[in-house]
Amino acid sequence: MDLRGKGVFLTGGAGGIGRSMVEALLKKGAQVLFCDVNEAAGKATETELKQQFGDKVIFKLCDLTNSTQLSEVFQAAVSAFGAVDVCVNNAGIADESIWQTMIIVNMNAQIQGSFLAYEHMRKDKGGRGGVIINTASMSGFVFGSHRNPVYTATKHAMVAFTTCWANNPEMGAQGVRWGVLCPTAVQTNLLAMREGMIHDYEGWKKNLTPHDRLQPGDVAESFLALLENEDSNGAVLKVAREDGRAFHQLLFMDNSTNPPMGFVEQEKVFLASK
Ligand SMILES: NC(=O)c1ccc[n+]([C@@H]2O[C@H](COP(=O)([O-])OP(=O)(O)OC[C@H]3O[C@@H](n4cnc5c(N)ncnc54)[C@H](O)[C@@H]3O)[C@@H](O)[C@H]2O)c1
Repeated sequence: MDLRGKGVFLTGGAGGIGRSMVEALLKKGAQVLFCDVNEAAGKATETELKQQFGDKVIFKLCDLTNSTQLSEVFQAAVSAFGAVDVCVNNAGIADESIWQTMIIVNMNAQIQGSFLAYEHMRKDKGGRGGVIINTASMSGFVFGSHRNPVYTATKHAMVAFTTCWANNPEMGAQGVRWGVLCPTAVQTNLLAMREGMIHDYEGWKKNLTPHDRLQPGDVAESFLALLENEDSNGAVLKVAREDGRAFHQLLFMDNSTNPPMGFVEQEKVFLASK
């Protein structure tokens, strides 16, 4: 997809991975409306980015636990740009002590955002197609992760939900493509854990490996590669580090069995960043 002039809706853009994706999209010439529950950070990000990109970036306050607010900010993006061509359901939290809220933010809101986008984009209802990307995690592939069972469950859910929709035979006719991002640990506020937010907090602290973490820019660079690849419907984008270098790798459903039971992995692509 050529992103010049495209309309993008993105959740959780005030900081972390979301903010890096907003910047990367703007640099490619897209117009972006991002929402966030953190009003101060959202406004600060908007002010900074407007200096470089002018009216192409808009911030809207939204608490994704409120489904009415999510519908309203999605509609605000449609009104601002005429259409939403790319929807990025990115916002997420990692706090096992508020697990019901975590399910709503990480799963319900991403699913609702996907449905808002699909209904808007589908060609049989007057849409012009588009791309829907959900941010899951490498946790979406991991089993037995005892420190964050609910977080892990929400991420498994989003890998499953996204790939199930991508495999719907109607997607070609509707012009809609789906993808899911699965990074390993990324240096953002999400990893600023406190006692109670995860189980076995002491064990987590002992195993901290900050040098192994990706930077938000690594994920944004990989996200753009996925977005620009027209043949990526159903892609699961793994972003990780190996021997001190960041890489991404696309995984596609293995459709040799019905239903598909696994993934076929493409070659790793190492990023320029260190
Ligand atoms: N950081 C990591 O190690 C990592 C790894 C894999 C996947 N992820 C996923 O990446 C996504 C982005 O996380 P991040 O690392 O950038 O974290 P972050 O905390 O830096 O950013 C998340 C953003 O979402 C916003 N947000 C949280 N709850 C919200 C709500 N109710 N309504 C609206 N906005 C809300 C926050 O205010 C914040 O700006 C999440 O889905 C996360 O699970 C993160």
